[in-house]
This record gives sequence, structure tokens and C-alpha cells, in this order.
Amino acid sequence: FATGALAGLSVLITAGPTREPLDPVRYLTNRSSGKMGYALARAAREAGARVTLVSGPTAIAPPPGVECVHVETAQQMHEAVMSRVAQAQVFVATAAVADYRPASIADQKIKKDAARRSLELERNPDILAAVAALPQRPLVVGFAAETQDLERNARAKLMKKGLDLIAANDVSGGRGFDADDNALTLLWPGGGTTLPLQSKEQLARQLVAVIADRMGEANSR
Ligand code: C5P
Repeated sequence: FATGALAGLSVLITAGPTREPLDPVRYLTNRSSGKMGYALARAAREAGARVTLVSGPTAIAPPPGVECVHVETAQQMHEAVMSRVAQAQVFVATAAVADYRPASIADQKIKKDAARRSLELERNPDILAAVAALPQRPLVVGFAAETQDLERNARAKLMKKGLDLIAANDVSGGRGFDADDNALTLLWPGGGTTLPLQSKEQLARQLVAVIADRMGEANSR
């Protein structure tokens, strides 16, 4: 019998980077380590939730008691989320999803012949926006990595994507990505708070407490 701030709830979390293949041996990706999403999965589990983690490739082991679905591409992550989101009361998108994928994947390894090559890219689905647009939706929490005007850009993203909560972090000067510590500015419609620089594990516990608060707020309306 689970006790804790999220007892009895199902939480779906995306984490890590995605990997977008170019040919059989190459891909496009980013510097996301998955640390924040995995810490959040652990904290949500410790708060009594049933947790499903949809993860791109990372070097981290899933926390105990967390169901982990491994994916590579943004399209696979989108599918894995959409087929599970109806069961969730909370959705948290921490993944650094590639905004674009190569428009076509070469069947064979691309040869180094031409002196110059160009790469055509195609937009990937925005998983967070897709979940937020569902008629029957969980509490939707997004992340925003910004290099300038943190609060203004994050609030704009909160409204534009129709989120219930956004966790903004300042990634200027290489902060945030792949680090063990982070600071977050949390914004929701009509309010906000800041979580000062601390380990991602501690930060995750505080974020879980705020998510539980927002759930309580949503249920009391
Ligand atoms: O718009 P932007 O990419 O800055 O938004 C970041 C947020 O959106 C993060 O929560 C990220 O996980 C999510 N996202 C997503 N699918 C995408 C791009 C971003 O879920 N294709």
C-alpha cells in the first residue's frame, strides 16, 4: 500500500536525448544525460506513484520499481507516450527530444565522395504539445532550457503549449545539460517559485512536491 504525496497516481515521464539515424552507422543527438528525468522517476516512485519512464539512450540504470521503456527516435518516443498516456494522471516531459530528424535514412553507409553535402531535416512531433492538446489529459509538466530571458520565454511556452507547469532552467554557459546540479524556475498559470541550485536528486524531490500541490489544486477546482 503506497503512501506519499503521489500515492495511487500513475506518472509518465520522458527522459534523455533522442537519436535520429542518418544511415546504418550515424545519428544526430544532443548532450542530454537523462539525469533529471531519472531523478524525477525515482522521486515520484518514492512519493508513492506508479512510474513509467520512456527513455532515450542514456548511461543510467532505471531506478528500482520504475517501469522503463527504451526508445531511440523522437517518433518512437511519441508512440510510446501516446499509447500509455491515457493511464497517467501526471505527464512530465524532461526528454531533450530532437526537434528535427534527417528527412531520409540512407540504406547504406554514406560515402565520403562529394566535397560538400547538405542534409535535409524534417520536423519531429512535439510530444509535450501533443499530450497537452488531448481532450482528456493528465496534469502536464514541461521543461524549458533557455539561454536568455528565462522567465519570459518559459511563461510564453507555458501558455503557448497549454501546460499546467513548466520547469525552466538557464543553460547559458553550458549549465544544466549533463550536470549533476541544477536550479529551476517553476511557473504555472497564476504563480511560480524558484528552486535554488542543488543536486538533481534534491531538485526532483522538490519538484514532485510542487507537482503534488498542483494536482491538489486541479482537483479542488
Ligand atoms: O519547445 P521546447 O523544445 O523548448 O520545449 C521543451 C519541452 O518540450 C520539454 O519539456 C521537452 O521534453 C518537450 N518536447 C517534446 N517533444 C519535442 C520537443 C520538446 O516533448 N519534439
